[in-house]
Amino acid sequence: MAEQQRNCGAEAVAGRAQPKAGLKFPDGFVWGASTAAFQIEGATRVDGRTDCIWDAFGRRPGAIAGGDTGEPAADHYHRFAEDVGLVRQLGLGAYRFSIAWSRVRPGGGGLNPPGLDFYDRLVDELLANGITPWATLYHFDLPQALEERGGWKNRDTAYRFAGFAESAAERLGDRVPFWSTLNEPWCSAFLGYASGVHAPGRQEPEAAAAAAHHLLLAHGLGLAEIRRYAPTAQAGITLNPYPVHPVDPDSPEDRDAARRIDNLQNRLFFDPVLLGRYPEDLLDDLAPFGFADLVCDGDLELISAPIDQLGINYYRGYRVTGRPAVPAVPAGLEWIGSSDVGFVPDPTRSLTHSGWQVEPDGLTETLVQIDRTYPAVSLYVTENGAAYPDSLGEDGEIADADRVAFLADHLRAAHAAIEQGADLRGYFYWSLLDNFEWAEGYGKRFGLVHVDYQTQRRTPKQSARFYSEVVARNGLG
Ligand code: FCB
Repeated sequence: MAEQQRNCGAEAVAGRAQPKAGLKFPDGFVWGASTAAFQIEGATRVDGRTDCIWDAFGRRPGAIAGGDTGEPAADHYHRFAEDVGLVRQLGLGAYRFSIAWSRVRPGGGGLNPPGLDFYDRLVDELLANGITPWATLYHFDLPQALEERGGWKNRDTAYRFAGFAESAAERLGDRVPFWSTLNEPWCSAFLGYASGVHAPGRQEPEAAAAAAHHLLLAHGLGLAEIRRYAPTAQAGITLNPYPVHPVDPDSPEDRDAARRIDNLQNRLFFDPVLLGRYPEDLLDDLAPFGFADLVCDGDLELISAPIDQLGINYYRGYRVTGRPAVPAVPAGLEWIGSSDVGFVPDPTRSLTHSGWQVEPDGLTETLVQIDRTYPAVSLYVTENGAAYPDSLGEDGEIADADRVAFLADHLRAAHAAIEQGADLRGYFYWSLLDNFEWAEGYGKRFGLVHVDYQTQRRTPKQSARFYSEVVARNGLG
């Protein structure tokens, strides 16, 4: 074990890309920033919007740090023009946002034109500023009324999603050239229905397994609607792969633990979308949850309909062991049996304010591995970023040197993946603005731009200036 930890340390130092002069990204590389509706919009009760699962979850005592809710967030609903101005000021060519189902079809029911009008205004504002809109249809915010009918455990929710996708694509498909059906379905299924740390806060492993399949079905059905109304758009899905390694590669228990976690975290989503099948060994692992019975004839054909681009959200990796008496299992994966799988932090890595290990080399590994494992598809890093405890200096500046280093290291890692052959076409930092970080509330700040939630004043951080220099040069100096 000691030797293993020493090896990991050596890897970490080697993997942390050393400063190199003059890294250039390919011509046409897309530079952007990401946000999500519930995390920034606020205005939860206007223009016909009704509750999504995060509104309801926020009313549950203790569910969200500090008792925070979706109000006021960054009040983006009313300040979107100012925020688009910030994207422009940074020199970014693209902006990734999500569309709130509860605005467009409140309660999962009929169309609410005033809710959809907001995205119309946003898209037009982006285009008027020369910024390409990237729309995500679902970023964790299921209408609460659908949750009350079973949520993602209920197959019908996937068909309701298709109706929402139809409304959004019909109205915006003429102007939005990049679409993603779902953001991180792993989180929706496993954090929402297994660990319950995300809305709707259920702890039902069977529901989590069902949710995973129904989310994928929703992807397939939603993709068909995007194709119908935006036939020339680049459409796809956004997944959140984690590189998974056994603590001891020589231990059969550790290797088996890594295989199972890789299946649940990664292959449960990548394989059906890109290969049209679930891994056989995963089906065996999920047999106790009746997973195979959920898959109806035709589902996998829909789920694996060709996509044009694959969004990759990357934050960190996992080191796992199959031998017990090890530290805690991360939320979402504990339900497969914490008695025989453990997650072991790498002591050589620094941590962000979220307690996430900083592992830029894992980004290179992930992109290269996806490129080599699956049929060709354009890759975009649609999220990558870090929370740090930023503070406003007396001079009014936010000197977030940690975030600058994080960004520089991950951009070098992304560049290394391109050098190794990965078809990576763009990078979006998470996030444009400080925002509502789900169960962590407003306490974790990921933004390039600081938000004072009392005054709603926006202040670009040092990282914003750094990023905009990278963008202007299409590389690192
Ligand atoms: C991702 C989510 C995004 C944000 C970042 C930090 O998993 O997609 O909304 O919370 O993590």
